[in-house]
Amino acid sequence: MAFENLLIENKGRIQYIIINRESKLNALNKATIAELHTAFTNAFKSPEIGGIIITGAGQKAFVAGADIAEFASLDVKVGTELALLGHTTVFDFIENGNKPVIAAINGFALGGGLELAMACHIRIASDNAKMGLPEVSLGLIPGYGGTQRLTQLVGKGKALEMIMTADMITAPEALNLGLVNHVVSQEELLTKADELLNKILTRAPLAIAAAITSVNAGARDGVNGFETEIQEFGKCFGTDDFKEGVAAFLGKRKAEFKGK
Ligand code: COA
Repeated sequence: MAFENLLIENKGRIQYIIINRESKLNALNKATIAELHTAFTNAFKSPEIGGIIITGAGQKAFVAGADIAEFASLDVKVGTELALLGHTTVFDFIENGNKPVIAAINGFALGGGLELAMACHIRIASDNAKMGLPEVSLGLIPGYGGTQRLTQLVGKGKALEMIMTADMITAPEALNLGLVNHVVSQEELLTKADELLNKILTRAPLAIAAAITSVNAGARDGVNGFETEIQEFGKCFGTDDFKEGVAAFLGKRKAEFKGK
């Protein structure tokens, strides 16, 4: 199947999906988002394909973000719909796919570009890559899962620093933060991605799919962690141990807990 904004290449059981809008630094316009959905749907279904490597055309950019030119006319309703559509059809779709997806970050990965890389299961960056979530400098926040996935990958403090400053970081800095798994030269990028994916493809495919589902479940249930905490906190007030603990503190004595 031919795409306007993507190149598809197969090598053995690996499929390369190459975002091919080099003159716009591979920015994600609506058409590219739609094509990515089709390409990943096909790849996840195809019995011949074991895993996917996604990268950007050219030497300068993986993806320099969502297409800012398309943002200009959006209002609250359409902006919300755009984010929701992207989440469902591409970002969550890739993250929850049944096959491993590696992002080979060959240059700028900004905004939606970094969000796309973060939706993949593994990230390898070339040493010239620059990464960031610059949305606040446009009066926006990341809308394709960046606030959640960056926080999961690098922790809340660093995520907030990157999001609030809008600064780009270098590949070695990203490696140091755990945002990318490996950094190699641009020439070695696809070889490294191939090597890693080929190793994964020697393992049991159903187990790989189960691992993806399970790791994702941990992150997803984390969203409800606060709710769980509130429920559990409340339940503590019904225990004898709570009464004993408070009484001991107020009585200036050591508590004797019974586990009831
Ligand atoms: N959306 C739409 N077009 C984009 C784009 C984006 N996110 N990023 C780059 N482009 C386009 C530029 O408008 C330019 O198009 P033109 O030649 O028709 O004018 C072309 O890609 C090349 O980009 P340019 O800015 O000239 O390259 P540069 O080397 O000077 O700068 C960047 C590179 C990545 C620093 C710069 O392009 C940039 O800041 N891009 C936007 C990043 C961003 O904010 N992304 C988040 C969006 S939510």
